[in-house]
Amino acid sequence: MTVTASVNTRIQLSVKGASQETTCGTSLASGPWEFDKGMPEYGPGASVADAIPANSPVQSQIPATYREASDEELHERIVAAKKTLGDSVVVLGHFYQRDEIVQHADYLGDSYQLAVAATKHAEAKAIVFCGVHFMAETADVLSNPDQSVILPNLAAGCSMADMADTDSVEECWAQLTELYGTEPNAQGKVPVIPVTYMNSSAALKAFCGRNGGIVCTSSNAKTVLEWAFERAERVLFFPDQHLGRNTALSMGIQLENMPLWHGRKALGGNTEQTLNDAKVILWNGFCSVHKRFSVSQIEKARVDFPGVRVIVHPECPMDVVLAADENGSTDYIRRAVAAATEPTTFAIGTEVNMVQRLAAQYPQHNIFCLDPVICPCSTMYRIHPAYLAWVLEELVAGRVVNQISVAPEVQANAKVALERMLAAKPSV
Ligand code: 13P
Ligand code: SF4
Repeated sequence: MTVTASVNTRIQLSVKGASQETTCGTSLASGPWEFDKGMPEYGPGASVADAIPANSPVQSQIPATYREASDEELHERIVAAKKTLGDSVVVLGHFYQRDEIVQHADYLGDSYQLAVAATKHAEAKAIVFCGVHFMAETADVLSNPDQSVILPNLAAGCSMADMADTDSVEECWAQLTELYGTEPNAQGKVPVIPVTYMNSSAALKAFCGRNGGIVCTSSNAKTVLEWAFERAERVLFFPDQHLGRNTALSMGIQLENMPLWHGRKALGGNTEQTLNDAKVILWNGFCSVHKRFSVSQIEKARVDFPGVRVIVHPECPMDVVLAADENGSTDYIRRAVAAATEPTTFAIGTEVNMVQRLAAQYPQHNIFCLDPVICPCSTMYRIHPAYLAWVLEELVAGRVVNQISVAPEVQANAKVALERMLAAKPSV
């Protein structure tokens, strides 16, 4: 059955006992300021059990007038502030944002589209990024120096991005370059190139920029790996092992040539032989939202809905991607649903806010999330309308709060790696 209420509404009903649906945490029904009291944590949702780095940004308490305002009041305040600010502000929103935020976004997209959108609004003095920290950093790197990028809740990080810290990646790189050397082979290819998923700190994007590497998103990972293999014998891919493995597999690379690099172990826990045979060295990171999807959920969907079309995001584990009918980025999933001409049942393996929105937008189809438990991305969910109202009204008052500024020396190299990605074209 297609359910069209917003995810937040479904959570509120479930926690009150007014619906039979289950959530992965009753505290999802609270305002995020309940978790923003000074302790860094990912908060309830899919990443609740992930260890958060000690130095993670913390959101200070926003004034009570926002925390205590009703949903209707916050909505009206956001609309009024945006009207006053006009073109001087642009609000970008990721597909995983809650509906109560998405309705205020001037531009909605996946991480690639939003990175491009950040370069296209020179008229805006402020870019309010309703997404997570690494996306706001990318917008800061790609936008003009006189524009401010604002993240409405500073605690909206990403547990996957945090799984690769600069020191550990530098240490891995030192070991790899000692093993392989740095000299190009007879075809002019260097031994290894670093590729970072967009879901990483600006510092790691800068690391890639400095070391001949590049950034990818889930919508261009294959194109970017092709770019890398034109220049290198191997790739070091971080932080998402699943996107790396699923993409490499789709390019015909064998699993035995994709060793996993474990943290700070010598040779990442591998032998020299394994690393010499490697084509893609995978960092041991993952997304806790997409790790929730399983083959048994797909099998159940196929029993319950014969003919169901199963589409999952490539951040899902390999067995899930192989059991699905299709896999692709959030925008791929959106386009696949939009293009279906006949009423279709879609079982989708990606963040529940996006799946819910598709179900509401396309009532001619039966669209449901493969995971029966309502479990949003902990950090995307940290962007509540109270924070959006607060940052916008601060702008109206002439104050920029929650600005994300990437240090100039990091900016320059991160931009090199991002621009390589923006210029990379698929092979024909
Ligand atoms: P895309 O927007 O590239 O599909 O990535 C999904 C995601 O997990 C963003 O954090
Ligand atoms: Fe990070 Fe996964 Fe949330 Fe995306 S969905 S922000 S990868 S934890």
